[in-house]
Amino acid sequence: MSDQPESLAALEAAVDAIRTDAEARLATAPDAAAVEALRHAVLGRSGDLTALLRGIGRLSPDERPTAGAAANAARVALEAAIADRLTALGSRELDQRLAAERVDMTGPGRPWRVGHLHPLMTVERELREIFHGFGFEVYEGPEIESDLMNFELLNIPPDHPSRDLWDTLYVAEPGSVESGPPRPAHDGTILRTHTSPTQIRAMRELAPPIRVLTPGRCFRYEAVDASHGFEFFQIEGLVVDRETNLADLKGMLEEFARAMFGEGTTTRFRPGYYPFTEPSVAFDIGCLVCGGPGCPACSHTGWMTILGAGMVHPVVLRNGGFDPDEYQGYAFGMGLDRLTLLRHAIPDLRLLMSADLRFLEQFSGGR
Ligand code: DAH
Repeated sequence: MSDQPESLAALEAAVDAIRTDAEARLATAPDAAAVEALRHAVLGRSGDLTALLRGIGRLSPDERPTAGAAANAARVALEAAIADRLTALGSRELDQRLAAERVDMTGPGRPWRVGHLHPLMTVERELREIFHGFGFEVYEGPEIESDLMNFELLNIPPDHPSRDLWDTLYVAEPGSVESGPPRPAHDGTILRTHTSPTQIRAMRELAPPIRVLTPGRCFRYEAVDASHGFEFFQIEGLVVDRETNLADLKGMLEEFARAMFGEGTTTRFRPGYYPFTEPSVAFDIGCLVCGGPGCPACSHTGWMTILGAGMVHPVVLRNGGFDPDEYQGYAFGMGLDRLTLLRHAIPDLRLLMSADLRFLEQFSGGR
């Protein structure tokens, strides 16, 4: 090529010029792509410095090594300068990212929303705690029951009013819903109307002495109002042992009332009737609102009924697999919903199932 230097001095000057120019452009290269383009233009196969080296052959043989060394020194220097520039550009990019993504670690944290138990469950736990202290263990049963367990084995005869279609939610016979008016399932599958069927299950499964507490959801075909729901919770208790008697039951329930409602709680037993206990009692506490004289909350009686109880009926003991001459037991059942209303002075049962946070958040303190 005609512009190839003809002398060593000219070649060295050309190498210097290329190097100075390249270094100046490098210093202002805005990003890694610009640096790569420069590398290509100067050091690449058809770059300026490479082209210059090709002209070395024109020099005299004794000049060639000096020229080659000069060109090579320039290449090495430029490669180092390119590496430096890339490093500088990289750390600048990093600085920019760090500035953009900056997090103020000293700022206050965002508070977590912490949930809490539903008031029904808080009261249920309280009951479990109290009865745990009396030696009871929790024993749960299914919410879908058989007519046999729910009624028959509990000494509730077929014509008993609680079996009435008005009370019991029957599971439909498969297929009957599609083909006309639904019929109750032929195998007597129902939604349990109380937790008492668990008595039979516990007696059949556990060995005496039995002391079980069954909390659970129950269902009845009810017109819903401030004190009735079609879905509600009960807590059932059962004790089976030798020489168990009514005095044990009374003492235990009085202790329970004091643990639940306070030391000064007054109590009374009244005769009651349940098909699965004999004798049966109703257990009342002194009205929590008026304390005795009578008010609308206690229907002006001064008393509030909190549970039903009694000695397990011999027929039920036998159905559970026990000889009533050898074993006796007592049982009790209470409505968790009602206890929760009493505990927190809630006026309407429907609030419990409303899923209304304005209501529920009042109980975040729990217990
Ligand atoms: N199962 C009864 C009901 O639903 C409550 C009950 C009463 C349970 C007396 C018992 C009991 O275990 O002894 O109304």
